[in-house]
Amino acid sequence: MTPQSAICAEGGDFALFLTLVLADGDVSPVRRVLAALPDLTAALAAQLDEPALASSVAIGAACWTRLTSRECPDGLAPFAPLAEGGRKAPATPADLFLHIHSPRADANLMLARRVMGALGPHVRVVEEVMGFRHLGKRDLTGFVDGTENPEGDERAGVALVKDGPFAGGSFVSLQRYVHDLPRWEALSLSDQEAAVGRTKEADEEMEVKPPSAHIARVVIEEDGEELEVLRHSMPYGTTSEHGLYFVAYCASPAPFRKMLERMVLSSGGGHHDRLLDFTRPVTGAAFFAPSAELLESLS
Ligand code: HEM
Repeated sequence: MTPQSAICAEGGDFALFLTLVLADGDVSPVRRVLAALPDLTAALAAQLDEPALASSVAIGAACWTRLTSRECPDGLAPFAPLAEGGRKAPATPADLFLHIHSPRADANLMLARRVMGALGPHVRVVEEVMGFRHLGKRDLTGFVDGTENPEGDERAGVALVKDGPFAGGSFVSLQRYVHDLPRWEALSLSDQEAAVGRTKEADEEMEVKPPSAHIARVVIEEDGEELEVLRHSMPYGTTSEHGLYFVAYCASPAPFRKMLERMVLSSGGGHHDRLLDFTRPVTGAAFFAPSAELLESLS
């Protein structure tokens, strides 16, 4: 089974993230567009001579059966919101998630316009966000993001369902975070590094880090194995609102969930993620990105 192209490929310099809801009525036009997405992407990549143009579309639990006429993949469920002590990880509406990335913002927009043109009135855009590389691979906090992401063949190993009817597919979790940069930038360098758990300039893991450090919260070992997700997060924004568009692909929805719980809730030893004192998620949604073959079978 072939994964959709955006999943295992390294992200480009630009990305487009679109969340959509389905309109009432006949969904067969939507099925046809989803089925055609891998071909549409390949055709535009050839036309623009941009082989790194990649896409994936993922479907939420609420409309899975309506769109695919199949049973839901085991574990696909609406994003469950979390809240504790003023920290919130809200769930926001989204039936579909369209993820496009490449080295070129123009190529991404052309592909998104073709897809949206074909979907027409059958969907409504909830949110459309352009991600961009910032100072190499640094988040707007100034810290390198993605260092410990799986590499090479490991990417497929982490992101893709291995067997069964949904082989080649991937569970997708997204959250758009809004940073409070003036507050973050008022911290000393050592306080910023303690919040992340890595050094800023050299991007090295700190040997001794507080239990509230981001890395201390999201690194979870189970049976001697570290839980992993494949992150495709990117900085986004304008002068008035900016932050990180967090996207993770995984063979199971459980690792993301466990990581997020350790960030938001203080049940794991009384600590929440110190980063959440400087950034807050304003969206949250969960999807499944079917294999290209399953997608093509929808038409
Ligand atoms: C690592 C930033 C949200 C999971 C990192 C790193 C940074 C970072 C700077 C270290 C470099 C690296 O290995 O990539 C952020 C920011 C976030 C955010 C700014 C939100 C605004 C999340 C969320 C999750 C997550 C929501 C999962 C629920 C991870 C994981 C690692 C990581 C698994 C790798 C840990 C390791 O193996 O060392 N993040 N992150 N992050 N983050 Fe986040």
